[in-house]
Amino acid sequence: MNALNMKDLLDTDSLSSEQIFLICNTAKYFKDVFSRSVKTVPVLRGKTVCSLFFEPSTRTRLSFELAAKMLSANVITVPVSTSSVVKGESLIDTSHTLESMGADYIVMRHEVSMAPNFLAKNIKASVINAGDGNHAHPTQAMLDTFSILERRGSLEGLHIGIVGDILHSRVARSDIMAFKKLGARVTLCGPTTLVPKEFENYGVEISHNIDEILPELDVINLLRIQTERQRSGLFPSIREYNHLFSLTEERFSKCKPDAIVMHPGPINRGVELDDSVADGENTIINGQVTNGVAVRMAIFYLLAGGEPMNEVEKIR
Ligand code: CP
Repeated sequence: MNALNMKDLLDTDSLSSEQIFLICNTAKYFKDVFSRSVKTVPVLRGKTVCSLFFEPSTRTRLSFELAAKMLSANVITVPVSTSSVVKGESLIDTSHTLESMGADYIVMRHEVSMAPNFLAKNIKASVINAGDGNHAHPTQAMLDTFSILERRGSLEGLHIGIVGDILHSRVARSDIMAFKKLGARVTLCGPTTLVPKEFENYGVEISHNIDEILPELDVINLLRIQTERQRSGLFPSIREYNHLFSLTEERFSKCKPDAIVMHPGPINRGVELDDSVADGENTIINGQVTNGVAVRMAIFYLLAGGEPMNEVEKIR
């Protein structure tokens, strides 16, 4: 079939550690392409990538579209809010319309969990999940993993904290799976209402006190507070969250000197972290965005049947 042995990329649950290394090693190659003066390669020449986003996005949509263009694909962006979706066209009918125009890949973000899985079962094109409900965001997890591997060479034995609104976070679920498959210890941290005990079933630890865990962490992955997803009562106030869980300058001074600070974006300055931390030397938020393009190029390349690039397991 292809080196990943899959038609669609829907979550990180279904990726083995070998497949994760394969994606990250391939991304390393495409990051080099990204830094060339001529950034285009003919991997997807003659193929059509369709970008179908039912929810807002800056990073994910633009980096998928840029990745596809750098691989020489034809790229169609469906403007969902002005498309026939608003006239009531179903997801399947919209997707069949796109397939009839020759779409080989459909990159989809949807507010309903598992919507990409449903689509993948019903169309021939490859479906790449660009984030669905609170279920999965596999390409974010791959770029997060790649970014840590780039800095540390391995995740084996690293202690990674994921801090914030875990309950509503597709990024947290996908990151947990990927980080644990590569041997990291993962601690989730946030208010009891946003980090329920059931998450222990994922094989992670839970803390509701950021000050206790920060000095032990090698990586601090801060998540956005998703005010648009919260039901009343889960989240007392932004001020209280900031007081109890924000990575302030003072808290950051107690972290390991080489601790990596990450955030999938978009960030809420003064809520999840202070300006000085967001713009500090340990923070790799902008690097994550660059790596997002390389990872998405790698995923298109592998799904298109590109040769595996996996000579080394560790990609320092
Ligand atoms: N990280 C992420 O998914 O960002 P966007 O919502 O801007 O795509």
